[in-house]
Amino acid sequence: MRRRERALLEQAKLVLDFNWTGGYTKPGPRLYPHQWSWDSALISIGYSHYDQDRAESELLHLFDAQWRNGLLPQIVFNPSFGDYFPGPGFWHAQESPDAPRNHRTSGVVQPPVHATAVRLVYERARDRGRAREFLERAYPHLVFWHDYLHRERDPRDEGLAYIRHPWESGMDNSPLWDAILQRLHLREDEIPSYRRVDVHTVSEQDRPTSAAYDRFAYLVRLFATHGYDEAAIREECPFLVQDVLFNSLLCRAEADLAELAPEIGEDPAPHRERARRTARAIDEKLWDEEHGTYLDYDLAAGRPIHVYCASNFLPLFAGVPDEERARRMVDFLEHGGFGLSDRRMRPVPSYDVHGFGFSPTRYWRGPVWINIDWFLLRGLERYGYREHSARLSTTIRELCERSGFYEYFDPFTGQGHGSVLFSWSAALLVDVLLAAADEAPSPRQP
Ligand code: GLC
Repeated sequence: MRRRERALLEQAKLVLDFNWTGGYTKPGPRLYPHQWSWDSALISIGYSHYDQDRAESELLHLFDAQWRNGLLPQIVFNPSFGDYFPGPGFWHAQESPDAPRNHRTSGVVQPPVHATAVRLVYERARDRGRAREFLERAYPHLVFWHDYLHRERDPRDEGLAYIRHPWESGMDNSPLWDAILQRLHLREDEIPSYRRVDVHTVSEQDRPTSAAYDRFAYLVRLFATHGYDEAAIREECPFLVQDVLFNSLLCRAEADLAELAPEIGEDPAPHRERARRTARAIDEKLWDEEHGTYLDYDLAAGRPIHVYCASNFLPLFAGVPDEERARRMVDFLEHGGFGLSDRRMRPVPSYDVHGFGFSPTRYWRGPVWINIDWFLLRGLERYGYREHSARLSTTIRELCERSGFYEYFDPFTGQGHGSVLFSWSAALLVDVLLAAADEAPSPRQP
């Protein structure tokens, strides 16, 4: 490794040190003071290269807050930070009989990338004895989590899980949700009263609008009113989406679980079968023949969501498309508004630059996110598109080196936005620098 890269690596580790709380890592110092679910999974991938202890604690701390029905919460609250919206008092999660008693949590989930993270942490661990103990502890939580998603979020047994809030997608403010949120006409007395704190920490221009926040809050109150009873929520919830990113990560996670199972004498077959089913369902129900990529499906309206985001290409990470479909997707990434062969842009913008309402700086509406680039680079690598995956790892390195470890970046100027010292940007940069391409896990084709 060259000197400049070594220096960058050390800076990334310092960011993680700065956000480390002793049990887990905060996503960012001020905007995100608690533990977030998919952040922790991605952060543990960074630690897996050099700190087995932290990598394991990060995930175990999250699993410790798992609900009794298997739900793995989006946020585990840090009791010493009261000034946060929406905090435990807004979620009322403890009104569910399934909520944990040892932690306060939110009542939604985030994308299921945890089994993939556990696999990397397990495989890279130096102390093999401890790694095995870790896997023995983590495995039942992962099975329980996936069982929850298949049981509660896939009522028609399609092989696809639904999300019921934009926050569950991990892409809170994506244009993917606009049509559904617009459909949601709220009278003034239907909007819960709340006070945002995010806009005091970062520029309001970069964050979701108040109209979107009203709807986010409305959905949370709907869940709380139903005491987090999934069957009751499903009946009434106007937001039910089979999301491409969420299901691609679930598919990949099941395949990774199948690889882990035999290590501790468990049966891989059910996980392999589930991975196959979800892969088939993504391929059959979500494929968009017209544009050559996958689309989210709005279950409440019964139709696909014709909005093109970088996340729509994540089936590559799970090995879902065949070679021909993958080629069409790469063609779209190159020649559509995603800039994979455009030297004036830092790929991949989170939203098609030609899309209606594209913004290079607004949260999930155009900026480059390191985690999405990381999923895509591993996916492109898997299909043999080495030049493209190399371009994405160079982009990740250059963005962090020139602008710092920001939460997201302007694809045209490279300038950083959102939270500073953002943990997953640092952790995935560590992975990009330290993982030899062939070291990345490639589970059997589901
Ligand atoms: C934002 C992102 C979400 C992330 C959280 C903490 O809400 O949209 O994906 O988990 O911040 O970093």
